[in-house]
Amino acid sequence: MGLSPTPICDRLGVRYPIFGFSHSVDVVAEIARAGGFGVLGIAREMPEDIPDMLSRVEDALDGKPYGIDLMLPKNVPKAATLDSMRATIPREHQTFVDGLVDRYQLPEPSAPSFFTTQVRSEELLQEQSEHILRSNAAAVATAIGIRPDLIARAKAAGKLTISLVGSVRHARKVLDMGVEVLVAQGYDAGGHTGPIGTFSLVPQIVAVAGDRPVLAAGGIATGGQVVASLAMGAQGAWLGTLWLAARENHTPAALLRRLIDGDSEATIITRAHSGKPCRVIRSEWIDAWQAPGAPEPLGMPLQQALTGDAFVAMHESDDPRLIYEAAGQSVFGIRGETTVADQMATLVEESERAMRQLSRLD
Ligand SMILES: Cc1cc2nc3c(=O)[nH]c(=O)nc-3n(C[C@H](O)[C@H](O)[C@H](O)COP(=O)(O)O)c2cc1C
Repeated sequence: MGLSPTPICDRLGVRYPIFGFSHSVDVVAEIARAGGFGVLGIAREMPEDIPDMLSRVEDALDGKPYGIDLMLPKNVPKAATLDSMRATIPREHQTFVDGLVDRYQLPEPSAPSFFTTQVRSEELLQEQSEHILRSNAAAVATAIGIRPDLIARAKAAGKLTISLVGSVRHARKVLDMGVEVLVAQGYDAGGHTGPIGTFSLVPQIVAVAGDRPVLAAGGIATGGQVVASLAMGAQGAWLGTLWLAARENHTPAALLRRLIDGDSEATIITRAHSGKPCRVIRSEWIDAWQAPGAPEPLGMPLQQALTGDAFVAMHESDDPRLIYEAAGQSVFGIRGETTVADQMATLVEESERAMRQLSRLD
């Protein structure tokens, strides 16, 4: 009994209904090689680096289809520099962060990167969107917000449009804009997430999506859950956290250790990372923001202007006390360093086992 392609797999030309989100070119390429559909996140890239990143992924994929994902938060400034943003940070917040940096002796980031130089603004989102439209990606995924002109232009360019949604209300909005595929991303998910659990969300999104395909996301780490997603009417599962355990992701050692040691309870939803509710694996940095007397995190994009240097520094120095990353309750599926090929093979094998188990219940 095989894990068969669903209609969206046929449309995209992939073998398995397994969709993998990653910020890593190598992970996306390996997912595609193993028969899944890889989606490359570009929300953390310097705009000038995006063309090279997309060339690298397209070279590695050798014609295989892939997608690109972009976060499009609303209520961001039209245009802004990091300095202009930083000038508006309340003194209490700056003092709090300076205190943490001092207490943990965090070094300065070594080189400019997205988090140390960029601010999410309409201008930046526009620049990122243009790169996506010029790419050969088969699909464009949007999260946190949406821009109708990007959807219309992506469709006109023949790209499949996908949006991550966390509620029926969000789903209706993006369906009205003509988005073709919905990712029902539940509370369990790593990254920015809403309050509804994946198991409750998926059937509701399937019900409003009509004939448009739905993918299930959030908390998925096993083949049994892939099959459960299909059983709920989804045409596939969309996974993010699991790939952090793949060698191809080059996860810093202390972060990988935290992910291996952590279980679902080690994740928490916090606004301390980006200003919007985001599920991460806890660390002393995240805990400091929950402690009595800590200031309320600022909004997006201000919170990242405040903490971007520290985030980069804790990753560069691989600080075992502080390092954290977006991670879902699916972290229970991370038990050691592995490879994308092994992860895909395991997901397929487990899915097929789950299907055999179900057939015995007949
Ligand atoms: C490290 C990390 C970064 C993420 N960044 C983004 C992002 O930039 N854009 C996006 O649409 N989703 C992002 N997500 C969410 C994933 O697309 C996906 O919905 C989520 O990981 C699914 O839940 P899971 O983590 O339990 O597999 C991120 C997830 C992780 C773990």
